[in-house]
Amino acid sequence: MLLLERELELAVADGVLDAAAAGTGRVLVVAGEPGIGKTALVDATARRARERGFAVVAATGGALEGDFPFGVARQLFEPVATPELLAGAAGAAAPALGLGRVAAEASESGQRALSFELQHGLYWLVANLAERAPLLVAVDDAQWADRDSLGFLVYLARRLDELPVALLVAARGGEPNGAAGEVLAALRALPGVAEAEPRPLSGAAVEAVVRAALGGGAEQVFCEACREVSGGNPFLLRGLLDDLGAAGVRPAADAAERVRGATPAAVQRNVLLRLAGLGGDAVALAQAVAILERDADLSVAAALAALDESAARTAADRLIDARVLAPAHPLRFAHPLLRGAVYADLGVVRRGAGHRRAAELLDERAPDRAAVHLLSTHPAGDPWVIAHLRAQAERALAHGSAGGARVLLERALSEPCTGEERAEVLLALGDAERRGGGGPVAERFEEALAIARGPRLRTRIVRELAHVHWTRGEADAMRALLEDAIRAHPADDPETLLELQADRAAFLQMNDPHAALAPLGRLTERVGPRVERLRGDTPVERRLLATLAFHRVVWAQTSGPEVARLAERALGGGRLLDDVGAAHPAVLAVLSVLQYVDRDADAEAVLEPAVAAARERGAAAELALMLTVRSRLSLFRGLAREAELDARDALAIGDAAGLEPGREFVLATLVAALVERADLDGAEAELAARGASSGEPRTHATRWLLLQSRARLRRAQGRFAEAMEDVGRADRERSSAYGVSLLGRAELALGLHTTGEHAEARRVAVDAVRRATAWEVPSTLGMTLRVQGLVEGGERGVAVLARAAEVLEGAPRQLEHARALVDLGAALRRANRRAQAREPLERGMEIAHRCAATATVERAHAELLACGARPRRPVRTGVEALTPSELRVARLAASGLTNREIAQALFVTRPTVTTHLGAVYRKLDVNAREHLAAVLEPGAKDHHPPSDAKAPGGREAVVP
Ligand SMILES: Nc1ncnc2c1ncn2[C@@H]1O[C@H](COP(=O)(O)OP(=O)(O)O)[C@@H](O)[C@H]1O
Ligand SMILES: [Mg+2]
Repeated sequence: MLLLERELELAVADGVLDAAAAGTGRVLVVAGEPGIGKTALVDATARRARERGFAVVAATGGALEGDFPFGVARQLFEPVATPELLAGAAGAAAPALGLGRVAAEASESGQRALSFELQHGLYWLVANLAERAPLLVAVDDAQWADRDSLGFLVYLARRLDELPVALLVAARGGEPNGAAGEVLAALRALPGVAEAEPRPLSGAAVEAVVRAALGGGAEQVFCEACREVSGGNPFLLRGLLDDLGAAGVRPAADAAERVRGATPAAVQRNVLLRLAGLGGDAVALAQAVAILERDADLSVAAALAALDESAARTAADRLIDARVLAPAHPLRFAHPLLRGAVYADLGVVRRGAGHRRAAELLDERAPDRAAVHLLSTHPAGDPWVIAHLRAQAERALAHGSAGGARVLLERALSEPCTGEERAEVLLALGDAERRGGGGPVAERFEEALAIARGPRLRTRIVRELAHVHWTRGEADAMRALLEDAIRAHPADDPETLLELQADRAAFLQMNDPHAALAPLGRLTERVGPRVERLRGDTPVERRLLATLAFHRVVWAQTSGPEVARLAERALGGGRLLDDVGAAHPAVLAVLSVLQYVDRDADAEAVLEPAVAAARERGAAAELALMLTVRSRLSLFRGLAREAELDARDALAIGDAAGLEPGREFVLATLVAALVERADLDGAEAELAARGASSGEPRTHATRWLLLQSRARLRRAQGRFAEAMEDVGRADRERSSAYGVSLLGRAELALGLHTTGEHAEARRVAVDAVRRATAWEVPSTLGMTLRVQGLVEGGERGVAVLARAAEVLEGAPRQLEHARALVDLGAALRRANRRAQAREPLERGMEIAHRCAATATVERAHAELLACGARPRRPVRTGVEALTPSELRVARLAASGLTNREIAQALFVTRPTVTTHLGAVYRKLDVNAREHLAAVLEPGAKDHHPPSDAKAPGGREAVVP
């Protein structure tokens, strides 16, 4: 086909292709009115790409396709996605391509991350493809593309500049609204995006087209008239010429008037006249193709047109000759405007009936395609339609398209649909809306609950609604809901009742432990006689044990060792994780319990494989969550740098995936870790970046943790009054919600001490030690003793500090041990016992150094100087000079991962990894990754020191 007057546009396209071939991917947006020549330009660009050795993947949006989950992505990648290409992070894309199902995780943040994960997976699929040859990704008629795929296109476009990939997106200008409009605007706003807008053909070009069609003798006035009517739009021009040709008009000057009598609208409509001239079979087949759109296989189209196959084939040939249909398989119109004209002419009723029949015809071979047609039918209370829409909605969810499921279910609701069925549809719709992150979720569930009668269905709805309340922090509504449900629960089903009760306790506990107290108390009473006998043999038992263990930690009931036994049984040797997945509140409860009772190694044994698995699957939400927990654990253990790295990763992944929950918790860890690292400016900057430098952090159950971290920063900055204010608030919030925190109490005592309220400080500290003694966990006792020693001062203080150091000696909290030693040394120095002071100071400095706890190292160093010693600063190795990201990359590289695998694991692009690694080599003076492991500190390989390297704990935070 001849392409006239597109030199400029093709030059732009060439520029984009050249850049991509050179490794810098770019976006080309082609926009323009229908018929102006966008598709022709896309085709020409694809040809030129192939000539340059590009691989090309292409897709076209269709008028019916907007709600088909990942439709465009599937067109693009289904033909090329081999298992090999889907290796690694790209595997996360499998559900989107219909090649796998997504995990049935239901938490709000989890699902929001899911679309991120699918996009991330598709991105890696593209990256893998581009590994072999430069790649052109071409999407035509993007105004009709589905929302999921459009989201992916933007995701890809943002990361394109580091891939040898050209992304070509063509869409109708002006017209696109909704998702497509937003996406085009987003693409256009990207730096370096190229744009092409095919112009109307000039008089000369129109002449050339007319003469090619109607003969070289066409007169200029006639051609001029053709240009006027078509406005230089090549589609309209060709249509006009087809009409004139069919009517036998000669292209002479005297026919110009007749040409001028036509209008663009008439030219479009004329296809119907042309069609009528081709006979009844052709009309019927064309109408069938208009209805089927992308699904117009000859046999299906024939069936829909009620023709036998040979008649259909003859009709198809006629239509192709008349240039109504394109010579293609499956059948399709030569241009979407032609389809539009035929489709519009069918009228609403026949269209609806046609789609209903099309759905039936497609149901066997392509049920998801059938759903596309059902969406275009009219509500008629048809049970087959409702059942089908529901089944397809479920399927869409499994393939990662909450949006797709939502559309289907909304359509199902608009059928006359009543009773239990309506409740079920509402339940599913609310679920889809929650997963997609939008819509009146709670109202859906509430309406469902108002309709539903069956106890099992009601229980399911109650659970979902409770979860919504939970994630929104609506503790009162949640409690009321669960209590009503428990009251109304039929007595003949005690197991479900127990589960509801366990849920109530678990949800309340995480949200508002104070409120959880009474129900949990009653629950404990009920199973009370059994608690000691609960062995964690069933899922309910394990969940119950987790909740009970957490409960006892929060309220410091019984003793640490006792609680540790409950936690162990809750874990059930890993079965708890198999029951509920890593991200369940019960798992989080057990993990925090283990940290409170000095069972760090057990917590790590759960976390390490969970982190690795989440990395491998590219499960962003889960990974962010596991890193959040692990950074807290590291902080506890005193591994300041580990804590910093994990917290930074968790925040970065959360940012990328748009996760909200848990941010304040990670931020609290990060700030505390940075204070340990003596990076006070860094800590301040992190707070400022998230609007938490002053005042109340946003409402969240763990807000007190952030207040506590901020207090530590303020104290390190010497801003004691502000520190006291935060610490006081943290203690009040913590105590009112969770009962007394011994660590919080210790912090409070320190705050009171630094602001001169010595007597009160002493009272608080002594009380904390008393409670810690009963709790029987060495770390907790040691930490409270250290604070008491500081607060007491004098000879008595020295004695208490010595005792603290002794207690901490054997506890898995190295940094806390180091701190006690340094405080002891400092106290001895103040008591003029300088010689005695040196030994604890030196040991403290050594241990703190191993923890990368710069602040404590500095203190020890200063104290040693004051003792008249000439301390050698622990050697700063090159590793210290690495930034957090460089260190993380270096460690993964040392553990044997390739750059690609590192990029996938960290959710960054490969060139980013290359850059970091370059810096690592430079700073460590290493020239190959084989040598990295040796240079990085021992234990770095598995990115946590081996568990026998007993490490210290952030003094702060947690604890009973
Ligand atoms: N530059 C051109 N010169 C000649 N014919 C063209 C040109 N651009 C498009 N056409 C023809 O015009 C018709 C409509 O073009 P198409 O690319 O399908 O438009 P769009 O995709 O913008 O709706 C096609 O038959 C095509 O072959
Ligand atoms: Mg087109």
